[in-house]
Formats: sequence, structure tokens, C-alpha cells
Amino acid sequence: MIRVSIAGILCWLIASPAFGIDVIDMVLDSKVASMNKAGLGPVTYPHKLHEQIYKCEDCHPSIFIDKRGANDIDMQKNISDQACGAPGCHNSAYAFPLYFCDKCHTVLEPTDEK
Ligand code: HEC
Ligand code: HEC
Repeated sequence: MIRVSIAGILCWLIASPAFGIDVIDMVLDSKVASMNKAGLGPVTYPHKLHEQIYKCEDCHPSIFIDKRGANDIDMQKNISDQACGAPGCHNSAYAFPLYFCDKCHTVLEPTDEK
């Protein structure tokens, strides 16, 4: 009996949003046309990795609304201490900097060089 209820509680905890959204990587591509012009492709955002380092409330809702595609992220925001470039993030000494484009974006093959 006791074992069953512990298992029940564990299931509830694992299913609870406070224990993560069960998504490892999210592809952010709402601005893909503009990225392609810069020779880049979509961003693969490692949500799980960020969950392991920070608390949900470090980002939600102050930096990002917790809904896919709801944040209208662009590089102007990123270099202006918002979104991925929020204080203590990718515009600071605490995380890799914004000029490492290929750490976040896929890089397109140059079409004229094949
Ligand atoms: C480092 C910042 C950061 C942390 C910490 C973080 N998230 Fe997120 N989360 C994001 C970003 C960025 C997105 C994508 C938003 C977008 O697409 O505009 C996101 C998206 C989401 C979504 C939407 C998923 C979907 O498919 O619509 C949910 C739900 C969510 N997060 C919940 C959580 C929970 C729960 C935690 C804590 C366990 C957490 N987040 C921790 C940055 C973070
Ligand atoms: C820390 C992660 C990160 C790094 C590093 C990064 N970007 Fe981005 N970039 C993003 C995100 C997130 C978006 C928005 C994705 C979406 O929702 O479509 C974006 C969007 C863009 C866009 C389309 C929107 C706009 O601002 O016009 C371009 C172009 C772009 N990035 C270029 C670059 C270039 C060039 C570099 C390197 C100098 C770079 N990015 C580095 C995360 C990053």
C-alpha cells in the first residue's frame, strides 16, 4: 500500500510542470528567412540543459513567456540585454558570447562553393 502511494506521488511529481517540460531541444525558426540571408539556419535551443542550470522562474515569465514562438526573439533584443542576451546570459562573461553564431545557429553551406 505504502509503495503504491509513493509510486503515485512520484508519477505526479514527474508529470508536474515544475519538473521540466520534457523537451530536450527546441528549434527556434520563426525568423528563418532573415537567418538564411545571414548564411545561418534555425537555432537549436537546449531547453533541458538550461533547466538543469537555472530555475524556471529565472526565465519565466520575466525573460521569456513559456509558450513556444511567443517571444519574438531577434538579435537586436539579444544584443540589448534582452532574451538570450539578458543580464548574466549570452551577453556576459557567464555564458558563451553572441558572436559564436554557430553555437546557437546551424550554418548554411555556401551555395557557390560546391
Ligand atoms: C534559461 C531560460 C529558461 C529556463 C531556465 C526555462 N525555460 Fe522554459 N523556455 C525558455 C525558452 C527560450 C523557451 C522558448 C520560448 C519561445 O519559443 O519563444 C521556453 C519554452 C517553454 C515552454 C513552452 C513549450 C512549448 O512547447 O510551447 C514551457 C512550457 C516552458 N518553457 C516551461 C519551463 C519550465 C517548467 C522550466 C523549469 C523546469 C523552464 N521552462 C525553464 C527558456 C527557459
Ligand atoms: C545565444 C544564442 C545565439 C547566438 C550566439 C546567435 N544567435 Fe542569432 N538568434 C538567436 C535566436 C534565439 C534567434 C531567434 C530565433 C527565432 O525565433 O526565429 C536568432 C535570430 C537571428 C536572426 C534572425 C532575426 C534577426 O535578428 O534578424 C539572425 C539574422 C541572426 N540570429 C544572426 C546571428 C548572427 C550573425 C550571429 C553571430 C554574430 C548570431 N545570430 C548569434 C540566438 C542566437
